[in-house]
This record gives sequence, C-alpha cells and structure tokens, in this order.
Amino acid sequence: MHLRTIRSILRLNGKRVLVRCDLNASITNGSLGADDLWKLKSVIPTIRYLRRKKARIILVSHRGRPKGYDHDLTLAPIVKKLSSLLGVTIPLWHSDFDTYEKRSKELKPGAIGCLENIRFNHGEERNDERLGRSLARLADIYVDDAFGNIHRTHASMVAVTRFLPSYAGLLVQYEVEHLQGLLQRARHPIVAVIGGNKISTKILLIKKLLRRVDWVLLGGALANTVLAAMDYKIGRSIVEEDMRSWSKSILHNKLKVPLDARVAPSIQSSAARYAAIGAVRDKEMILDLGPDTIAFYASILKLAKTVVWNGPVGYFEDQRFAVGTKELVKVLTHIKAKAYVGGGETVKAVLEENAEDKVRFISTGGGAMLSLLEGRPLPALRALQK
Ligand code: 3PG
Repeated sequence: MHLRTIRSILRLNGKRVLVRCDLNASITNGSLGADDLWKLKSVIPTIRYLRRKKARIILVSHRGRPKGYDHDLTLAPIVKKLSSLLGVTIPLWHSDFDTYEKRSKELKPGAIGCLENIRFNHGEERNDERLGRSLARLADIYVDDAFGNIHRTHASMVAVTRFLPSYAGLLVQYEVEHLQGLLQRARHPIVAVIGGNKISTKILLIKKLLRRVDWVLLGGALANTVLAAMDYKIGRSIVEEDMRSWSKSILHNKLKVPLDARVAPSIQSSAARYAAIGAVRDKEMILDLGPDTIAFYASILKLAKTVVWNGPVGYFEDQRFAVGTKELVKVLTHIKAKAYVGGGETVKAVLEENAEDKVRFISTGGGAMLSLLEGRPLPALRALQK
C-alpha cells in the first residue's frame, strides 16, 4: 500500500492542517511512563515539519475511553508536556465547533492549537459523519499521524477524510513502511513472542503467525488459556474460559508454551515460588515465566534472524513478575536478529533496559501493530492510499 504523505503536499504555507495524533497517555504521580513519553515524542517530527512549512496546526486526539466528558481524561496535562517538548505553547481548546473554527482561522502560520479529547464527543467512536464534517470545517488539509489508533474506524480517523484532502503524517508513514508485509519479507528464522492478557485479542494473529514464522513463543496470562486447553492444571491463574476450546486450534509444534513459571497465591502475596507447569497448586496463580522457560525461549531467540514481539510475558506492572520480560529484552540486545517490538509494556521494558538502539523497530501501537501484521483491512489507512 502506497500512502499519500505530507511530503507530497506542495503548498503548506498558511494552510490550516488538522493533525490527528495519538496523545493517549496516562499520568502517574504527575509524570508520564517511559512508553508514553516515547509515544509523545513520536508525534514531534510531523508537527515540526508542518511548522517549518508555516502551516497553521490544529491537533486532535483521544485519551482513554470516556463516556462523555470526564475531567480525569482531559488532554490538558499531555498537551502541557507536548508544549514543553516542542518549546511552544499549545492552547487546549474546549468549546463548540463554531468557536474552534474561529480560533483555527486566527492561528498564525506555524502556531498550534489542540482540541480537547475528541472522545468526549459521542459521534467519535460511531464514526459519525456530522462530526467528521465539523472537524473538516477547521482545516484545509487533514493529516493522520495517529498510528496507535489506526485500527479504529472513528470519526476523526475515517469520516473526516471524506471531506478533506488527506495525507499520512511522518509517523504513520514510518510505522506502515516497517510493519506492512513484514511477515512476508522478513528473513527466517522468524521468532514471534506473544504475551499479554487475552488470547481472544491475539488468536487470529497467532494463527497467521503459525503459517509464516518458524516459532511462536507464548507468555503472559494469554498462555494460561492455552495451557488450560492442553489440560494442564493452572490453579487460580487468569484464564479466558470461553476461549479454552478455540485455543486448541492453535496447538502446533511451532507454538511453544512455558515449561515453568513464577507462581504465587495472589498478585499481592509475598510468597512467590517457581513451579514446573503441571505442578501449579490449586490456590496459586501463574505470574511470570520461570528460569527454564527463559533459558528455553532464549535458546530459540538466539537462532532468529527476525523477532516480532508484542505483549509482556509476565505480570509486568509488578517488578517481581517483570523478570521474564526483562530477561528476554536482554537476550534481544545480545543477538543479531532484527527485532520489531510493540505494545505499551513491551516498549516500556525495552526502554527501561536501555535497549532501544539494539531493537530495529519500536512501534507506538499495540493493537494497531497487531492489526497491520494480521493484514486486517483498515479503513483509516485506506483513506490515505495513493
Ligand atoms: C492506544 O493507546 O493503544 C491507542 O491510542 C488506542 O487506544 P484505544 O485502545 O482506547 O482505542
């Protein structure tokens, strides 16, 4: 798929450009996590490019999944951080579309304004045509740079493109160039590491991967459902019961599951221990890979020419259960394979281990990366096609 990109726009001087970006980030104790900071920095090249060309810039983004206005999900703190990264004050506009239109016309060339969380508008997630039309009134050109949201058919991603000439921003261009068709062109052996919570969100990808790659290594809570499908006793581990029988359909000799695990009676408990899979007690839950699995997965990763990784292989939020994920990141830093990594916590692990220079490609998308690898039709991308 060839995209129309902002570099092909001949005249940007004085034009109002609506830039859909992904400022969806969480703030804990007043600061952004390493992965969210990475995401925020990734929108800067497009904004700088447009400023250099003297465009008037109107940013649009969502944050979280609000149902109507929600003070906790305002874009204010994120826009403040973006302003300081760019060294430019970006006012946050929270008003009606008539006022937005007036403000967009008042912007000086190179200046930036940002609309409040677009998901505060009910029409956004319905891909409402009227909302698309209202957004289009604010600009002459639409630029999609929200790669993390590219799998969503929402008004600020799709409906708006019916009313404005639409282009891909530099981030969307970069991510699509790296990820599209990756499984077809990557060098073998290809090893996929798939972690995270829900097998239901990744089972289609895993099926596709099993046709294209040499090994799929599973970790995280999603591996529990597969272990249960293999009739292992997994105690109180998180499991998707309704996915148990469907999970049998991915059992394959290319698919590798944990051999042992770090288990505990609960997430809060301090009584964690290592147990072989098959020896997990009724009152225990699987929370991370065990040392045998880490060594086994490392031995496979060492054979790889390409690694694709999405999702942590343990309960990464708690440092005690982040060992498997961190150890596998360390393996990536010692091998020559080209690694493509995506999903918030996986990216966080890479950044925390200072491994970003060793990884070939870090995606700002989690679900978006999976959708692209799966080859799912993406209306938001189709709208940017040449
Ligand atoms: C993300 O952070 O993964 C994207 O911004 C998409 O957010 P969503 O899953 O709420 O649509």
